[in-house]
Amino acid sequence: MGNRLAGKKAFITGGAQGLGLAMGKMFMEEGADVTLTDIQVDKVSEAAESIGAAAGIEHDVTDPQAWADALAAANEQMDGINVLVHNAGIGSWGSVESESLEMYRKVMAIDCDSVFIGSQAAMPYLKDHQPGSIIIISSVAGLMADGNYLAYNTAKAGVAMMSKSIALHCARSGLQIRSNSIHPVFTRTAIIDPMIQLKGSQEAGEKALTRNIPMKRLGEPEEVASMATYLASDESKFVTGTEFRIDGGITACGVGSK
Ligand SMILES: NC(=O)c1ccc[n+]([C@@H]2O[C@H](COP(=O)([O-])OP(=O)(O)OC[C@H]3O[C@@H](n4cnc5c(N)ncnc54)[C@H](O)[C@@H]3O)[C@@H](O)[C@H]2O)c1
Repeated sequence: MGNRLAGKKAFITGGAQGLGLAMGKMFMEEGADVTLTDIQVDKVSEAAESIGAAAGIEHDVTDPQAWADALAAANEQMDGINVLVHNAGIGSWGSVESESLEMYRKVMAIDCDSVFIGSQAAMPYLKDHQPGSIIIISSVAGLMADGNYLAYNTAKAGVAMMSKSIALHCARSGLQIRSNSIHPVFTRTAIIDPMIQLKGSQEAGEKALTRNIPMKRLGEPEEVASMATYLASDESKFVTGTEFRIDGGITACGVGSK
């Protein structure tokens, strides 16, 4: 147990499992108050209880009214909000030829538009409890493309740039509110299960997913949570508008790199 996040009041979306839950747990261990939200209502309540969080709230990040309600409830529970983690997300497998418009719109709504809706809705709370930090879970897919990740690539690149725009607006308005994006490579959570299963076994799936990662392994949720803890804390108080890769070296690779 530490106190790097003493006085921090964090609102984390997609907190029922995976990276959201790992961040919530580490934030709690570092002295923050935490509210987890998720579209999976039972699971987010259990998750919140398991880490001793202030609240676990049902919240669909595509719905502006749900944002207003969830933020108001979290503000009430924690007596403020000064860390906002946009983590809820879905994957999608489809190319310019195979992706459906319906799925494209769904991915953009959950992975990209929600970050605008939620950041705008949270600004009054963040302004009231400065210094504040917005942390956006993008992906290496926001920095490098795959022919079969059309919608996901587009959404994750979009939020990386959105983060910079938010950061610049806040800094130039004299607000002590920072915004940064985190870009993990394949990390051990449920979101990669369909890709593992495609290969027939856990071992074959992991081998395929890690083939191009120089460090030759998946990321662990705690490795992403560590970066989020730094960005939530005042240790990063001069850090805004930038992106952090947790990727075993994959985005360092150039042509011919092995
Ligand atoms: N695990 C990885 O390999 C990896 C890599 C890069 C980026 N990411 C990103 O990390 C974030 C967290 O994903 P994860 O790996 O923990 O996967 P996960 O599937 O375990 O968790 C995603 C969570 O988002 C929630 N969610 C989905 N749609 C929602 C909605 N409309 N409203 C509210 N909540 C919703 C889900 O219920 C789930 O709890 C995502 O944005 C994902 O794109 C993951």
